[in-house]
Amino acid sequence: MAVSSGFSSLLVVFIFLALEVFAPRAEADPRAFFVFGDSLVDSGNNNYLVTSARADAPPYGIDHPTHRATGRFSNGYNIPDLISMRIGSEPTLPYLSPELNGQKLLIGANFASAGIGILNDTGIQFVNIVRAPLQLEYFKEYQQRVSALIGAEKTKQLVHDALVLVTLGGNDFVNNYYLVPMSARSRQYSLQNYVPFIISEYKKILKRLYDLGARKVLVTGTGPLGCVPAELAQHSRNGECAAELQKASSLYNPQLDDMLTSLNNELGSHVFIGVNTKQMHNDFMSNPRAYGFVTSKIACCGQGPYNGIGLCTPMSNLCPNRDQYAFWDAFHPSEKANRIIVDQIMMGSTKYMNPMNLSTILALDSNKWSVELQQILDLHYVDLNGRIPNSFSESRFLQEPQVHL
Ligand SMILES: *[C@@H]1O[C@H](CO)[C@@H](O)[C@H](O)[C@H]1NC(C)=O
Ligand SMILES: *[C@@H]1O[C@H](CO)[C@@H](O)[C@H](O)[C@H]1NC(C)=O
Repeated sequence: MAVSSGFSSLLVVFIFLALEVFAPRAEADPRAFFVFGDSLVDSGNNNYLVTSARADAPPYGIDHPTHRATGRFSNGYNIPDLISMRIGSEPTLPYLSPELNGQKLLIGANFASAGIGILNDTGIQFVNIVRAPLQLEYFKEYQQRVSALIGAEKTKQLVHDALVLVTLGGNDFVNNYYLVPMSARSRQYSLQNYVPFIISEYKKILKRLYDLGARKVLVTGTGPLGCVPAELAQHSRNGECAAELQKASSLYNPQLDDMLTSLNNELGSHVFIGVNTKQMHNDFMSNPRAYGFVTSKIACCGQGPYNGIGLCTPMSNLCPNRDQYAFWDAFHPSEKANRIIVDQIMMGSTKYMNPMNLSTILALDSNKWSVELQQILDLHYVDLNGRIPNSFSESRFLQEPQVHL
């Protein structure tokens, strides 16, 4: 009996170690979340920069719990905030915020900066913004800071397990190719050749993100660029979307999807998940009333036709009920529209999420952990009679734990 109880003690020790290492993610410890990209996902980095691309004055943030202009380009929450809520986490702080310190680093970080694009020359008029290469440098610096806090191994695991969101591309059209008539890029490339060029540059950015440890990355396409209030104001006579920008997003989005598929094939894993933002927008833009909107053409905040001219400022027209507008300002969706988008990210079919939605990713992850735990236990558990049970769950160990520690 002495031998077998010693043996079972060893087993108990082993199994507790295994549970420790392979325990499914505890509720109290949500995964980290990292955000890269432009104004659609910037949560306030530009507040700390000398740039005109900013959202730190009212009425921005009018419906945010703080009722303050936080730097988010929304009346309230933006897409990253709503994703954080879905994964059970606090909103990630802007990387440039002095509040992002200590334990708060473990929640993740938002590196996005309004005005930037895939290309370095996108948004040059905004002067001092954090372009994609610098966002990735900051991600590296972030990991060094976290390593100092929890060690290199745990930091690597935190980054591997994290969810990442990347939103880029819209500005490479609006604030580059089509910024002015006869722009430098439009003289250099036809639209047909510009799109593959920016897609190939995007691929390099995503590869770098992979090299820095990202393993679960949501990549959004562009919305229907020609249908935003800013474009309607400039190009539309009867509310029809601007043809050139619609053509641009029709070329861009399928090529982005193809690039993500080929990247996943090269990596041998579904690291990158395509988010069909255009389809999500098209749903509520083609039938706004079905989603509770009175309009998907007129911005809530702005001036001129469609409230699409200039910036949203304290002097602008402001709609009384933001939930009735698909667009908050001339370019950016309202919180209500962001909620519809994040619902689809979470639960949409393959028409919206390629190859799978976020709830599937989260479920697969927790399932993967329990399968690994099962395999480890099956591999190493030998019952007290020296029999090898078919599986851990089949053994009597769970029903009659013999703890002799
Ligand atoms: C953008 O800038 C980074 C460094 O700041 C450089 O490494 C990269 O090659 C540039 N990209 C292009 C397309 O020029
Ligand atoms: C997306 O999520 C929903 C709800 O969790 C699920 O029923 C559905 O099958 C998922 N679709 C895909 C394509 O993953």
